[in-house]
Amino acid sequence: MKTFRIDGQTGNCEIILGESISNLNKYCNREKTVIITDPNVNFHYGNLFSKFSVIITGTGEECKTLDIIKDIYKQFLELQVDRLSLIVGIGGGIVCDITGFAASTYMRGIPFGFVATTLLAQVDASTGGKNGVNFEGYKNIIGTFNQPEFVICDFNVLKTLPHKELSCGFAEVIKHAVIKDERYFRYLEENYSEILSLRKNEIKKIVQDSISIKTEIVQSDEKEKGNRKKLNFGHTLGHGIEKIAGLPHGEAVALGMIFASNFSVLRGILQKNDGERIKKLLKKFNLSIEVKLNKKDLMNAIKKDKKRHSAFIDFVLLEKIGTARIFKVSIDELDVAIDEWVMDVG
Ligand SMILES: NC(=O)c1ccc[n+]([C@@H]2O[C@H](COP(=O)([O-])OP(=O)(O)OC[C@H]3O[C@@H](n4cnc5c(N)ncnc54)[C@H](O)[C@@H]3O)[C@@H](O)[C@H]2O)c1
Ligand SMILES: [Zn+2]
Repeated sequence: MKTFRIDGQTGNCEIILGESISNLNKYCNREKTVIITDPNVNFHYGNLFSKFSVIITGTGEECKTLDIIKDIYKQFLELQVDRLSLIVGIGGGIVCDITGFAASTYMRGIPFGFVATTLLAQVDASTGGKNGVNFEGYKNIIGTFNQPEFVICDFNVLKTLPHKELSCGFAEVIKHAVIKDERYFRYLEENYSEILSLRKNEIKKIVQDSISIKTEIVQSDEKEKGNRKKLNFGHTLGHGIEKIAGLPHGEAVALGMIFASNFSVLRGILQKNDGERIKKLLKKFNLSIEVKLNKKDLMNAIKKDKKRHSAFIDFVLLEKIGTARIFKVSIDELDVAIDEWVMDVG
């Protein structure tokens, strides 16, 4: 087992890689433990936590709303949850985001932890203390920064994950390599078939390398004032695409990364060949590299991005593979770049 730590202003978090979900008991030593999970995870692994009270959420991005939070608060009251209780979210990024927000706001914050069961949650969503829900079409606009006490990543649970969901996780893995570590990128290029077949050592390595990158960035800038924004590489467009094309988060982020690489080439800061390498790698991990979109809808969705300040947006671009930089880009410039990229069907 390998562990990482985040010592944040909002709490300390231990991330435990290679721990088994069946050892969850070890971490549940509070007066009362309540599990939050979704129906799919409950179907596969519910027998391992059935001795606790279990709250079941819905599935999909549409369920990440204040309605579900209200429903969870009601169940907390019925179960007499208080500050001596522990809430554990067991699931993918959606369950983690919902659980973190419900636990951080109920009674002004009660202890919580996660068992991350998707690759995307293991390499990214469960770590870093960001949680929240969508509101009125704005993604993750309501939320808090608050560290979970622990995050457990059991690699064995990835075996039941649908292939499509695995690919979504690989999109965030590629993001980490692209923004921070050229050697990691090369490793992915050279070992993609072993990784895709979920070979134990390879999966262990990528979760470890991704968590190492993410924890280092979060530790240096927990509240996203600067450096942490780099983790949003591919996400400005990604969130827009996710919304209008109804694609899962990881698939949309992959397309957003292709746009951001193209845009970096267009601005003359990234070599064309590096842009091609990124596209090729995403393809190797079964991520689509093309999409048909209505440009007007996409621009409207981007304007709803919470990182936008007036006529400018913080946009993460690449100088080379392994080196990202944040630029203030005007909405007008973005509009032109999107024009060159999108196959407009509107
Ligand atoms: N807070 C953050 O820092 C952060 C970072 C990245 C992404 N996110 C959020 O994460 C969400 C996406 O998360 P996701 O990709 O994990 O999606 P998800 O939570 O919807 O999980 C994907 C699907 O896999 C199923 N599933 C989960 N674990 C399984 C398992 N072991 N076996 C079989 N099926 C399983 C789920 O029921 C679901 O249907 C988005 O809402 C995104 O905004 C948050
Ligand atoms: Zn993401």
